[in-house]
Amino acid sequence: MRIICTKDYDAMSRYAADRIEKEIMKKRGVVLGLATGTSPLGIYRNLAEDYSGNKISLKETYGFNLDEYKGLGREHKQSFYYYLKKNLLETTDFQKQHLHILNGNAENMDLECEEYEERIKQAGGIDIQILGLGGTGHIGFNEPDDFFPDICHTIRLEEKTIQANARFFDSPLEVPEYAITMGIGTIMRAKKIIMTVSGRGKADILYQALFGPVTPRVPASILQFHPDLTVICDEESCFVIKRKGKYVIGN
Ligand code: F6R
Repeated sequence: MRIICTKDYDAMSRYAADRIEKEIMKKRGVVLGLATGTSPLGIYRNLAEDYSGNKISLKETYGFNLDEYKGLGREHKQSFYYYLKKNLLETTDFQKQHLHILNGNAENMDLECEEYEERIKQAGGIDIQILGLGGTGHIGFNEPDDFFPDICHTIRLEEKTIQANARFFDSPLEVPEYAITMGIGTIMRAKKIIMTVSGRGKADILYQALFGPVTPRVPASILQFHPDLTVICDEESCFVIKRKGKYVIGN
């Protein structure tokens, strides 16, 4: 595990984007696992800028979105498909047919999940999984539980997650109660994981995830067992880790 502590959100995003771009240039047809939300937004902005500046092409990159709200159609402005459309498809040369999306409106969610797992396998697995960290310790939408779910599944969102994500909706009542997410196993099978975390509000849970006991009550704690995990955070979210004297790489 490498923990890179950068000065702020912009530096964090730049650093993470550089890492991802290096992999894109190294491997033709690289497969990305794509988180959404505030944490990776700066990464996508950097990819878009570097695409505009002719520094990078994503034409031969593949992607699987990490999760999706249940019941939101693709054109819903808060769906994760819409987010990736706006922040990746429309801003770079990432090919629409290379983007795999969990369908939050699938009639049979179990089948949707099984097929998604199969598609990931067919693609040769995920090379780089981009993650954010939820306030509940979730990764993807894997909320605290009694066990680590293996594959893609439907999940009921924690009240804390609904409140946190209400900032994107007109009211908390509009936030879907259920979501579909890659499982912990799906995430852990990725060859590399890059997690970006920012803000003082994430400092405690980040410490628990990286240095606390590995437990499904803090789903992200499983990442301690991943052989190639890079956590890129800002000063504020690194605060507790540094206070407790744990080693981080400065930047
Ligand atoms: C998003 C996702 C979530 C978020 C997490 C943090 O696809 O899977 O795990 O990464 O809720 O969200 P932000 O980055 O908005 O604080």
